[in-house]
Amino acid sequence: MRNQHISPVVLNTQYHDLQLLRRGKVRDIYDLGKSLLLVATDRISAFDVIISNGIPGKGYVLTQLSAFWFSELWKYNDLIPHHLISTEVESFPSICHPYIDSLRGRSTLVHKANPLPVECIVRGYISGSAWKEYRKQGTVCGQLLPEGLQESEQFPEPLFTPSTKATDGHDENISYATMEQLIGHDIATQVRKASLMLYTRAAKIALTRGIVIADTKFEFGIDPNTKQLVLIDEALTPDSSRFWPKDKLILGESPPSLDKQFVRNYLDTIGWNHCPPAPDLPSEVIQQTSEKYFEILSLFTKR
Ligand SMILES: Nc1ncnc2c1ncn2[C@@H]1O[C@H](COP(=O)(O)OP(=O)(O)OP(=O)(O)O)[C@@H](O)[C@H]1O
Ligand SMILES: [Mg+2]
Repeated sequence: MRNQHISPVVLNTQYHDLQLLRRGKVRDIYDLGKSLLLVATDRISAFDVIISNGIPGKGYVLTQLSAFWFSELWKYNDLIPHHLISTEVESFPSICHPYIDSLRGRSTLVHKANPLPVECIVRGYISGSAWKEYRKQGTVCGQLLPEGLQESEQFPEPLFTPSTKATDGHDENISYATMEQLIGHDIATQVRKASLMLYTRAAKIALTRGIVIADTKFEFGIDPNTKQLVLIDEALTPDSSRFWPKDKLILGESPPSLDKQFVRNYLDTIGWNHCPPAPDLPSEVIQQTSEKYFEILSLFTKR
């Protein structure tokens, strides 16, 4: 399965007949008129800085895993719509066909939306920056929590902790009230409800595969035609989530991760100050990161 899909590492894509809208940290976004083509490269970023090395197969894993979730979570027609049209390159508009081999596996055709200027984070377990803040002042993103939580403990209820979506630089946590000022009361209510529903449903599925989703981030947009809220971007990937093996979760400790945390930990052990340029990753770290991405894909999709 694996070798079949592993083309050489792709850091930048260039398709001359397609209009490149922009390059994100990970995805190259092409404007196809009625739709967008999101091409997930093998780029990896840490602390919002793109690293010069690519991770073999990463774009494939991100694309397949998001597609898995869009299909799995939308089985019962009870959620707001998502943006995905197809990941089957053969069904893409004909202008994409000359590039079909290079697009295969890593590309998603989506409905265009106007992205909301917020990132919607849901936390089920206390970890990372949330743990640091709680230990210092008993709050997580400003929300007061019961005393006595241990590192990696499950919250009594999942927390919705929005942040800004910085066009450059670092996203900043914001209160729910600030989010309401940014996107309006009605959309804020819908976004919060959808985020918590999506997380809760995904976390339940993940547990049946032996995986804890400690936290995750969603992005939403407004469909320009219907003016409805839609889920956009990627969903529940190792770039946007913290995944832990359930059987390795020990209260008071930080579990081994099946996500990008592995790279962040490496960069912290060598004392990088998080300012660009990022140091190169050694080949063992690249290889192990690639293996972790494939491992989480196979745990979820049983491939
Ligand atoms: N359906 C959609 N309509 C419009 N924009 C979308 C849609 N889905 C995803 N996007 C945008 O495409 C980009 C995806 O690329 P990528 O994940 O590389 O970006 P990022 O680095 O995470 O974000 P950014 O560069 O915006 O900080 C994001 O900016 C996301 O908001
Ligand atoms: Mg992104």
